[in-house]
Amino acid sequence: MKERLQELKQEALVKVKEATTLKELQDVRVAYLGKKGPITEVLRGMGKLSKEERPVIGELANTVRQDIASALDEKKESIEAEALEKQLAEETIDVSLPGRPAPVGGPHLLTSIVEEIEDLFIGMGFEVREGPEVETDYYNFEALNLPKGHPARDMQDSFYITEDILMRTHTSPVQARTMNAIDGSKSVKMICPGKVYRRDTDDATHSHQFTQIEGLYVDENVRMSDLKGVLDRFAKQMFGEDREIRLRPSFFPFTEPSVEMDISCKVCHGEGCHVCKKTGWIEILGAGMVHPRVLEMAGYDSQKYSGFAFGMGPERIAMLKYGVDDIRHFYTNDIRFLKQYHKA
Ligand code: PHE
Repeated sequence: MKERLQELKQEALVKVKEATTLKELQDVRVAYLGKKGPITEVLRGMGKLSKEERPVIGELANTVRQDIASALDEKKESIEAEALEKQLAEETIDVSLPGRPAPVGGPHLLTSIVEEIEDLFIGMGFEVREGPEVETDYYNFEALNLPKGHPARDMQDSFYITEDILMRTHTSPVQARTMNAIDGSKSVKMICPGKVYRRDTDDATHSHQFTQIEGLYVDENVRMSDLKGVLDRFAKQMFGEDREIRLRPSFFPFTEPSVEMDISCKVCHGEGCHVCKKTGWIEILGAGMVHPRVLEMAGYDSQKYSGFAFGMGPERIAMLKYGVDDIRHFYTNDIRFLKQYHKA
């Protein structure tokens, strides 16, 4: 029996040595020290031994058990320590490595331009307003002195939703909405940026959906010179102090007189070149003095109050400012195009 025990011990110790994982080690533990293991079996057979032999074998069996158990424990510790070492080595962080830059986006060129224009007018005391893109025929046309059947409605081909509801063709309805919302004894000084829609075929200079910024200033004694002064400041701040503006007579049903504003060409400064098609000037926006009938319809006394209004296309402004040659670039969202305008 003694030999059997010694044999088992040797066997077990070899297996412990060979084990490389905790799982293998556990298997050895169960195999040798478990209830169904060979040592337990030896102990069970002790009844057959003589009185003298019993304590000797008993003691030996216990030592063998203990030796195996401590070998197992030691090995367990070393496997665990090794695993920890390995994990630490794998998870080492080299704090001296340069960081990986996280890609950050930036505002769309159109957003930047609109915000720049907003800031500029806020600086001159204008408030920023908004209005609905789905508009009634009344506000889009009628309240702007464009009754049904008026030929000037054809200037803006429209997307109708019902007979009386359409996608707004310009931001001018917000003029009427703003004036209507207050009583006719208050002054108004606002700009309104927003999307507008026209039934145009898309090409380099047309888009069925584009952006406008409307401006409106109504008060006692607002004059054409006020309009000119505000527009001149806008043009110089936007395009450079060396730029000149000129107002050309034009027609809009909701302004009288109506003008179109040009700025001097930045390439030839008015001499005439290919950029300005030899005219020396580039058209920027439409404007005029608010038509007395528009004031009256909105509840203002046109004898006492006057105002100016203007409407511009930020896409066109951005195209001129940055030399963008196709309005579709604003809407196709090619990241290579947009990235060029991200400010660092
Ligand atoms: N609403 C006009 C357009 O879209 C622009 C404009 C606005 C003209 C305000 C005069 C005054 O063409």
